[in-house]
Amino acid sequence: MALTARQLTPRIGSEIFAHRADLLAGTHAAEIRALLAERGVLLLRGGDFSDDEEITFGKTIGRVRDDFGHSVMPITFDKAFNPKFADYFRSNTLWHFDGSWDDVPPFASILTPRVLSATGGETEFANLYAAYDDLPDADKAMLDNVRVIHSMEASLRRAVPDPSEEQERAWNDFPEHPVPLVWRHASGRKSLVLSSTAVRIEGMERAEGDALLARLTAHATGPHYVYRHIWRMGDVLIWDNTGTAHRVLPFDIESGRRLHRVTLLGEETLREAA
Ligand SMILES: [Fe+2]
Repeated sequence: MALTARQLTPRIGSEIFAHRADLLAGTHAAEIRALLAERGVLLLRGGDFSDDEEITFGKTIGRVRDDFGHSVMPITFDKAFNPKFADYFRSNTLWHFDGSWDDVPPFASILTPRVLSATGGETEFANLYAAYDDLPDADKAMLDNVRVIHSMEASLRRAVPDPSEEQERAWNDFPEHPVPLVWRHASGRKSLVLSSTAVRIEGMERAEGDALLARLTAHATGPHYVYRHIWRMGDVLIWDNTGTAHRVLPFDIESGRRLHRVTLLGEETLREAA
């Protein structure tokens, strides 16, 4: 059976249809990588991948990242399932992409739900290629050499306005990284680099920089560029982390909502030499 796809929205997201065994064998790997670059988000309904299958599938389209000794990272606010990172995921409700502080951010990630909340918890994705393409030429010229300082601390401060002393101490250790505001990809395409980890624009007065980032984020996360995913058990969702931003909508904290993420290592440099 050939792989087929249908668009979920005009500018971002496609649902794919293929035999599960073919996906796990890598039969469609090249097509999936091409579709991912073009559509930003791919959805397989009813894939129902186990952890091992999620890893196997990931290896067909990239190199699976080791996350502290495991290939599967539980994404949850429940400390019983992820004591080390549950607190950090609180900032997942803000638009971001993963690894904005990495020289080479992850290429893509795969998500499968294990426990869902009865209310909320949809994941939204914004197409940062399309948002860049649609900017007026004057904006494109102005943004060309702009660099933004990013730090995980900025994101956490926005998500947790009243941190404990312990959190304050941990956050103060996060370094700051200069990152270009426009990513020139090896493919020749360009995308905006927008994330809640942005602290300030280099060399720009703070209020002016904040206003510019707010304007670009409002543009890039407008309805034309966003796919909102309503989760069903069995879903397998893949996103291109280098050309999209994502966030989760609020949900019932007591629900134990948990998704398992497999992350694929980055393949192209974002950060310029400092
Ligand atoms: Fe994320």
